[in-house]
Amino acid sequence: MLKEKKILIAVTGSIAAYKIAALVRILIKSGVEVKIVMTKAATQFIPALTLSTLCKNEVLQDLYTNDAWTNHVMLGRWADIILVAPASCNTIAKMANGVCDNLLLAVYLSATCPVFIAPAMDEDMWLHQSTQKNILLLRSFGNTILPVTNGELASGLIGEGRMMEPEDMLLYIEHYFQKNKNLEGKKVLISAGPTHEALDPVRFIGNKSSGKMGIALAEECKNRGAEVTLVLGPSVESVPVNINIIRVNTAAEMYDACVNGFNETDIAIMCAAVADYSPVIISQEKIKKKEETLFVELKKTKDILKQLGQLKTDKQILVGFALETADEENNAIKKIKDKNADFIILNSLNDEGAGFGYSTNKITIFDKAFNKFSFEIKSKEAVAVDIINTILKI
Ligand code: CTP
Repeated sequence: MLKEKKILIAVTGSIAAYKIAALVRILIKSGVEVKIVMTKAATQFIPALTLSTLCKNEVLQDLYTNDAWTNHVMLGRWADIILVAPASCNTIAKMANGVCDNLLLAVYLSATCPVFIAPAMDEDMWLHQSTQKNILLLRSFGNTILPVTNGELASGLIGEGRMMEPEDMLLYIEHYFQKNKNLEGKKVLISAGPTHEALDPVRFIGNKSSGKMGIALAEECKNRGAEVTLVLGPSVESVPVNINIIRVNTAAEMYDACVNGFNETDIAIMCAAVADYSPVIISQEKIKKKEETLFVELKKTKDILKQLGQLKTDKQILVGFALETADEENNAIKKIKDKNADFIILNSLNDEGAGFGYSTNKITIFDKAFNKFSFEIKSKEAVAVDIINTILKI
């Protein structure tokens, strides 16, 4: 769920800073892209080198180094969230009062994304009226304060003021990203993967589709709160939990599953690479090798997307894919008209890293009015986010 998210960790001077190494590791393992800014005091508790090695990015400390100015505005814009952890008493006071005497504070003041603050200090400092007033102020500005915990403090005393443990911070962050539930109450039907059209008991006509794109779409819709049905052709990819999966083999089975479920569907996304033709006769015995040439008669399969386009009501959204190798845009636009789709997602096999088998994809989306939305090459998970965002926006 955190894959491809961008988190900027702002580390300040507190003994709890050593725990940030563990936090960075679990975030990186969850697929997060992490950047780090530190105050000078923080580097006394954990070396920048440790954190830059773990996050695989340069750790920034200064507003300018030699002749170069650090773009604090773009850092704040880059991040999906900023996590100030540990947040020392001093930095909390500065944040609450708009002080801007280091890079970390400049990033915070210019950030447009949500900010999470994980305070860490001794109990007396934590409970001091000025600190509590600052915390209230920060909260009133819309920042989220992660609760401190009770336990052994740096002073040796037992009490309140310990920074939340990295594992618990991860839960908080995951919960935040889960909140984008803009498909709650919606039913989504997705077709994915190849189909296999049997020739005999051991052979079939298939294609190279892995099913990854459709599975990524199903996962994205599920994360946004939708009730998802995934009609999946023979794919060896692992599939997410909490999704109703209907396994099919042939184009005819996929047709039946999709048409049967379409009535209750709010959004249907036909992502499968469905066979266009299937053998007229399926041999009951294994076809023996006899003649120099073998002719197999094929008949057209039923077009699922086209059928759904005919059944579609004004309340339903129908999305199709177009995998093209030539005259891509015209073919995609033609498919919108022919199949009465609301959107067509174009993949061109001429784009490096796009199409069957890859973990990445490069898409162009066309809507009914033939407006065109182009995207860079991205992981299929990130492409799924772009597709759903575009559908919902329009
Ligand atoms: N599709 C479908 N049923 C079929 C064939 C295709 O639902 N029997 C859907 C695909 O899932 C995709 C869209 O139609 O969403 C376009 O598929 P594509 O293979 O690109 O095009 P075709 O319609 O098969 O036409 P052509 O092969 O001539 O490009």
